[in-house]
Amino acid sequence: MRIALGVTGGIAAYKAAEIARRLQDRGVRVQVVMTASAQEFVRPLTFAALTGEKVITEMFSQRDSNSTLDSSVEHIGVAQSIDALLVAPATAATLARFAQGLSEDFLSTLYLATTAPVVVAPAMNVNMWRHPATQSNLQLLRQRGVTIVEPEEGYLACGMTGEGRLAGTETIVEALLARLAQSRDLKGEHILISAGPTYEPIDPVRFLGNRSSGKMGYAVAEAALRRGALVTLVSGPTTLTPPPVEEFVQVETSAQMRQALLARFGHASITIMTAAVSDFAPANPAAQKIKREGALHLELQPTADILAELGSARAPGQLLIGFAAETQNLEENARRKLERKHLDAIVLNDVSRPGIGFGSERNAGEIITATESISIPEMTKQEMAGRILDAIVKLRAAQLTPKVTA
Ligand code: CTP
Repeated sequence: MRIALGVTGGIAAYKAAEIARRLQDRGVRVQVVMTASAQEFVRPLTFAALTGEKVITEMFSQRDSNSTLDSSVEHIGVAQSIDALLVAPATAATLARFAQGLSEDFLSTLYLATTAPVVVAPAMNVNMWRHPATQSNLQLLRQRGVTIVEPEEGYLACGMTGEGRLAGTETIVEALLARLAQSRDLKGEHILISAGPTYEPIDPVRFLGNRSSGKMGYAVAEAALRRGALVTLVSGPTTLTPPPVEEFVQVETSAQMRQALLARFGHASITIMTAAVSDFAPANPAAQKIKREGALHLELQPTADILAELGSARAPGQLLIGFAAETQNLEENARRKLERKHLDAIVLNDVSRPGIGFGSERNAGEIITATESISIPEMTKQEMAGRILDAIVKLRAAQLTPKVTA
């Protein structure tokens, strides 16, 4: 296991030495990358002596003669060889550079060039931490899958008291190791994910749709990618940019979504149905735009229940996860869907609660399986995606564990 430890310019920079030490104790090889301002606080020699590796201090350095790497592409070499990038302490400026994608020095270039998981442990003055600019940069990074190890509250080097003190060494090391373990736990799985709403045409310009934004499904796809899965995303109309999945299929109607999913279901080891498939579609969509001539009566007919169809077509070993949007008798209704559609788990959303669910950034609910019910307090959809995948990893492990019979 090899990680890059980015050290940026703050009083807490000296604590990075202890972090490097603890990581080495856990068998992790550490390549330290220091920003110019970090070197005002700690000398690179400290890290070089601790890690036994040359510390990277600048973008274009004079390489020693026995190096095989040309300095101009060194960041690519490091980016490809590391299992994770940890930045501790991370200053407000570093977070801003990462959020904006500014490749101004070795560390920010490495951040852009690596596909390995990234963990940042911010440390700064309490007002800088609370500033909306910092908070919105953190939110962006979180959305892009960066793990943030929140700073602690306490006395700060600037003389103020509040949150902004670098998290404890153990907390940071544990967060990194957990992220490293997670980064591979879906390797070998091919996950088929449906997302977004469906649009059912009424006439060439009008449709019957719903308020689904697709955010939950896209968050699950992104998280699954980060955890090593091969991902196929089948999406109804959304305004979102799809993550770099293996295959992205854009559909509009529930019939198209059904076809796209049925065609790919056989190759998927896990299928997660987050899409808000329209339950009804106009029975006879008009070929021409319907004129406004008095009241209009639309006849709707139920669409095919795609998830139930997948449930009856599933092969042994395939995992199938559904969602349930409910407004009443939540758990009872969700459990009924779990059984009727032959699912391994169902994610229950209470869509009657304001501020969560459809269209919003946050969600809450419950993950229900045959044997347990995991409560999900209100959190971002990215965090919830992580919880859903954790539950799936657990289901897979239970499946693989041989049952002991008397
Ligand atoms: N679903 C589906 N095909 C449909 C309707 C829903 O595959 N035509 C899937 C959804 O993607 C979701 C799950 O079924 O994963 C539950 O959707 P929901 O609308 O809550 O359930 P319904 O079975 O439609 O039941 P009802 O609307 O009556 O509660």
